[in-house]
Parts: sequence; structure tokens; C-alpha cells
Amino acid sequence: MIIAHTIEEVRTQIRQARNEGKQIGFVPTMGYLHEGHLSLVKISKRQSDFQVMSIFVNRIQFNDRKDFESYPREYERDFALAEKAGVNLIFLPEEEEMYHNQRTFVEVESLADHLCGATRPGHFRGVCTVVAKLFNIVLPDVSVFGRKDIQQALIIEKMVKDLNFPIRIIIAPTIREEGGLAMSSRNKHLSSDERKRALSINRGLHAAKSRIESGIRRKEEIIAAVRSELEKSTPDKIDYIELVSYETLQPIEHIEGRTILAIAAFFGSTRLIDNMLIEPEGDSFTCVL
Ligand code: PAF
Repeated sequence: MIIAHTIEEVRTQIRQARNEGKQIGFVPTMGYLHEGHLSLVKISKRQSDFQVMSIFVNRIQFNDRKDFESYPREYERDFALAEKAGVNLIFLPEEEEMYHNQRTFVEVESLADHLCGATRPGHFRGVCTVVAKLFNIVLPDVSVFGRKDIQQALIIEKMVKDLNFPIRIIIAPTIREEGGLAMSSRNKHLSSDERKRALSINRGLHAAKSRIESGIRRKEEIIAAVRSELEKSTPDKIDYIELVSYETLQPIEHIEGRTILAIAAFFGSTRLIDNMLIEPEGDSFTCVL
């Protein structure tokens, strides 16, 4: 596995892989890899021949300096996991390599208005800017994003479409720990009590699932079921519990088409997010966690 620190090194390696007729797969990350990231590489390997992973804790997408500074960084551990998963090239740039008097930023309108966009102003502008830059550096054929960050994945899909990046975006299923907690690098910050309490997010999604599968469609009833499960475990703060349209990411009152139920809550100082897809199937709906 090659570890590249500069854009030039990445470009040389990609040129070589392309000359050998290889299709490029790309998984952007901020490191502290877990099974969720490795599952993205696995999917990318099925679709392409040369696997690139970036590890870059992107300061401009953090609206809380403490969150940026405490983001876990363990590169040697990441290298070992990535290599085992079949990554061919890691791009690990320094901040100066990525941002030098940056004056251009990418924003996807409207899709970022709600959910994490509302509570983390500027977050998706930072994500889109770094992902657009990484796409231009790596020039992948395919890039895989996790469904846990569904708003991010849909915003990137839209950016790719609007800006005509010749890249296929794949949104991969959420990988969960035992008990159903969605895998996230931030889980490392949870104490054992917070981790136990955070399982209420999954219980909340299941409570909504059983309501929806029994025919309930009104937002009020579904959100109340989730809130009641969450509150039993006294989260330190509930950022949002929201039902939004899959296509527009705008809040809805009543489930009619493809919908997302999304949750963000703090346990201790750790902010966790999760979601469930609600897919129409004939006259009813299937819920996918
Ligand atoms: O999901 C993440 O880890 C980050 O938002 C991403 C896509 C790597 C951009 O920094």
C-alpha cells in the first residue's frame, strides 16, 4: 500500500493505475477507521480495480474547534486496517497541501437547510468543498459514502450531478455495533454509560418502524414514539428527530413517498446521528435501518 502526502504523488499513482487500464475506486474518510469505513472499501472493490482512501480531518467542516481538535487520529492503526481491507493508495495530506489561501467554496442549496445543516452551519459547505477537491485530485470512477450520514451522501450525489463530475456515487448500508449503535469514529468518545444510553437511538428507530409498519403515517405520532424511547435514556440534548422527504430533505407532515427518519442527539458531549429509510412498497412501507 502506497502512502502519499502530496497531490502530485497521488496524481502520478493514479496516472499509472489508469495506464494499466484500472478503474479507480475512492473512499474519502477522516480516519480512525472502523468496520463502517472498511465496508465502503469492500463495496468499492466490487466496482473498481484500484482503491484510494483519503484520510484528512477537514477543519473547514467543523463548526466547533474542540470537536475538530479532539477528533481521534491514529494513523498507524488506520494504515494497518486499510491495507488489510485492500486499499492500494492512502492520501494523507497536511492541511497546507489541501488549503492554501482558499477562496472557492462549494455549496449545495436547499438540501442543507434542515437536519445537520440547520444545527451545524457551514458544515456541508466544508464537506462539499473538500470532497470536490478530493474528486479533482483522485479522479475516481466510483466513490462510496455511508448511509449513516444520509444528508451528506445525498448532498454529494447532488453536487456530482450539478457540477457534472463523471463519478458514480454509491450509498452503502449503515454498519452497526452489537445492540444497534451505528458505527462512527465519534463512538470512541462515549463512556460505557453513555454508550449504553445511546442504544436508545436504535430503540427509537425500531419504535418508529413498528408504528409505520402497522399503518401510522402522521409525523406527530411517529416522532412522539421516537422521542419517548430516546428520553427514557436521558440524552444530554436532542438536536433533532425529523421526518424528511428523501428527494428534497425538507420536513414532511405525513409519509407518502420515500422518506427519511433522522435523529441527532448528544450523549455526554458526543453528538451521534442515525436514520432509517422508509421505502414505499405497494400500498405499504418498508423501513430500512
Ligand atoms: O464523512 C466523512 O468522514 C467526511 O465528512 C468526509 C466525506 C470524508 C469529508 O471530509
